[in-house]
Amino acid sequence: MAKQHTQVTWGGRFSAGPAELMLQFSESVSFDHRLAPFDIAGSKAHSAMLAKVGLITAKERHAIHAGLDEIAKEIAAGKFAWNPQLEDVHMNIEQALTKRVPAAAKLHTARSRNDQVATDMRLWFKHACAVLAEKLRGAQSALLATAETHNDVLIPGYTHLQRAQPVYLAHHLFAWMEMLDRDVERFERVAASANWCPLGSGAIAGTTLPIDREFTALQLGFTDAKGRPQVTQNSMDTVADRDLFIEFASACALVGVHFSRMAEDLILWSSSEFKFADLPDAFCTGSSLMPQKKNPDSCELLRGKSARLQGNLHTLLTLAKGLPLTYNRDLQEDKPPVFDSFDQTGLCADVFAGTVGGMRINRGACAAAVADPSLLATDLADYLVERGLPFREAHHVVGAVVQLAEKHAMQLDQLPTEEVMKLHPAFGPDWIAVFDLKRALAKRRGTGMPGPAQIRRQFARWKKRLRTKA
Ligand code: ARG
Repeated sequence: MAKQHTQVTWGGRFSAGPAELMLQFSESVSFDHRLAPFDIAGSKAHSAMLAKVGLITAKERHAIHAGLDEIAKEIAAGKFAWNPQLEDVHMNIEQALTKRVPAAAKLHTARSRNDQVATDMRLWFKHACAVLAEKLRGAQSALLATAETHNDVLIPGYTHLQRAQPVYLAHHLFAWMEMLDRDVERFERVAASANWCPLGSGAIAGTTLPIDREFTALQLGFTDAKGRPQVTQNSMDTVADRDLFIEFASACALVGVHFSRMAEDLILWSSSEFKFADLPDAFCTGSSLMPQKKNPDSCELLRGKSARLQGNLHTLLTLAKGLPLTYNRDLQEDKPPVFDSFDQTGLCADVFAGTVGGMRINRGACAAAVADPSLLATDLADYLVERGLPFREAHHVVGAVVQLAEKHAMQLDQLPTEEVMKLHPAFGPDWIAVFDLKRALAKRRGTGMPGPAQIRRQFARWKKRLRTKA
């Protein structure tokens, strides 16, 4: 078609440029332009290496670096004119550079867009993992502050959404802290997997030119703990591999699942049926019809976003599954899902922090719910175990106590002691002390349990962890 389209870098063997429709279909600059800072860093390192091995002169390197710095500034200021006809971020920057700096025609020596985009993305993943870890730390800080404000509040813990056993609210919130902590560590592992330099792999089979891959890796910070360069070990795998994309999207999907579960708890807690929590107005919306409504929209969207994050992971798995080695253009579709996962996961962390940070706890409703003595039925079985009964028998006996209470439409702790003692001789007049909630919690002393001494330990642990990791 139109001859002017043959300006594309690969146009030499073509007598016609791509159709307008094909340009629209194949451009990626509309979404990969966000790789610009990483693309420029990669080009600076690559040209520094080319100068080091004598493939370009120091003067040419200098001119290329100066031109790239200028372009970086323009991009940052929003003054760079992205051209979709030049397909992607790589060609946009290279062409703009070549217009200013003739030596830039040598920049692509011993490089392909295949190892270039792999490098850009590895740099981006390292950055993205650090950003998301930081945001998750922010969500943890909001949780810790809320736990601290309400450190004496007890609530029922639930299994099957039925009241199970009493816990400190802080213990419940600390369960969420653990989930988020694993997420942070997962991003740290993804960043470690990203830390290998692809440059030098070329399109598929490296180059005949005498390049120094280790030098480039050092320039870009692809180094191990001892500062030694880390370069990928197989040129074909390097340009075909999209594991990192899947690992990153998977880490984001799991964050989404975590926030979704927490959001579900918050939605329940803020319902009139529970009334444990009042979510901040700033993260709720009203109804256009029912004037009394205050809807937990931020939490519902957290649940909804988790579906989207899982979808992105699935897109990437499906994208990669049928591809022969090595690079195939399908792989250009790898970027929208990971960018979306990054953006949405970061938003989720911030919105969760805002929602939890502004939440008010209804102490009265929590106290009323946790006063349910049946939450301590298991403690009553433990009481019998301490008096020598095998647990299975103790469980059975307490079942009979529960049945008796139901028959008399009484709370467990209102049953007359004589009636209870009739159910098993191991019951003594002190059975009723089991229902002292404070005492019941104090007995939960082991690591990971919700007793007050453990909660104090966990407060100290989280404070230290967030201080040192922040
Ligand atoms: N925009 C392309 C992508 O993201 C860059 C790599 C292009 N390579 C190629 N051989 N066409 O996949």
